[in-house]
Amino acid sequence: MTHKILILPGDGIGPEIIAEARKLLDVLQRDFGLDVELREAPVGGAGYDAAGQPLPDETLALARDSDAVLLGAVGGPQYDGLPRELRPERGLLGLRAGLGLFANLRPAILYPQLAEASTLRPEVVAGLDIMIVRELTGGIYFGQPRGIRTREDGLREGFNTLVYGEDEIERIARVAFDTARRRNGRLCSVDKANVLEVSELWREVVTRVGQDYSEVALSHMYVDNAAMQLVRAPKQFDVIVTKNMFGDILSDAAAMLTGSIGMLPSASLNERGQGMYEPIHGSAPDIAGQGKANPLATLLSVAMLLRHSLGRDDLARQVEQAVGHVLDQGLRTADIAQPGKQVVGTAEMGDAVVAAL
Ligand code: IPM
Ligand code: MG
Repeated sequence: MTHKILILPGDGIGPEIIAEARKLLDVLQRDFGLDVELREAPVGGAGYDAAGQPLPDETLALARDSDAVLLGAVGGPQYDGLPRELRPERGLLGLRAGLGLFANLRPAILYPQLAEASTLRPEVVAGLDIMIVRELTGGIYFGQPRGIRTREDGLREGFNTLVYGEDEIERIARVAFDTARRRNGRLCSVDKANVLEVSELWREVVTRVGQDYSEVALSHMYVDNAAMQLVRAPKQFDVIVTKNMFGDILSDAAAMLTGSIGMLPSASLNERGQGMYEPIHGSAPDIAGQGKANPLATLLSVAMLLRHSLGRDDLARQVEQAVGHVLDQGLRTADIAQPGKQVVGTAEMGDAVVAAL
């Protein structure tokens, strides 16, 4: 069966890192029997440039018709002045909502070869392997009503709504418990139940779902404490499940524990098993077009795509091992450069992974 993959290079370094992912997919097709049909479309600033919309209708239609979407990155300073609904980020949020990608898996894994690159002491982060399960289509990102309005006294006020239905909490909780069951069996649900009613309900529903998972040890933590614990003793965590905005914030902190945000992939899944895969770093406009960007997070996103949307855990592992191999060889892009290691560009790094594979 031929799997349809939609490639969305996006903006900034997006096209450069996606070019390396294409090399990898080509080799997987040629030498590993992977059967995929690749299509490409514009999104983000590129969507705006091509069709006046950060998420052109045609792009969304192609995404809906694909088994998996591979995204580079969106955003750039040239789009900062656009009205909110035309900004590149809207393209990303539109894909999440349009495909119903409610479950965002963000692993934070420290490659032993990069332990020195973390800003935390090596013994604090050595062996780190956390999975953050972030709810992605609800909460304050999408809650209504929202806006900026003028009060009676003539001053303006901005407002957003943080709302979660029991059904939304339950389905993300199930993804998190299933994930924890396949890993080390520990799940920490992060909320703000000491202040927010929505968190009170969150905690209640997660606890109830937990009764179906006796093999998973569930704990709860307030988000402020979780932020502190992540930098104090991150290895206490196995799987973390949390709301959209808390997950946005905590996943950046977790990423930095691993030394480079340039190393981390992500998967966003819906109920039909479709997924969107992207590196968690952004479009890095400051280095765009220079051939310096680290393609490893994108190549590892291809591994997640193989695992979660194409059912090819075998190939996913091989890609992950190939990445480990090039790190062992001493190859580094500028963002993970270390004394005594060889600094290479985007294309050389991609070539090395393909060769290792
Ligand atoms: C992320 C990003 C996005 C988010 C932005 C670009 C809209 O920060 O994927 O973490 O806030 O979700
Ligand atoms: Mg973020």
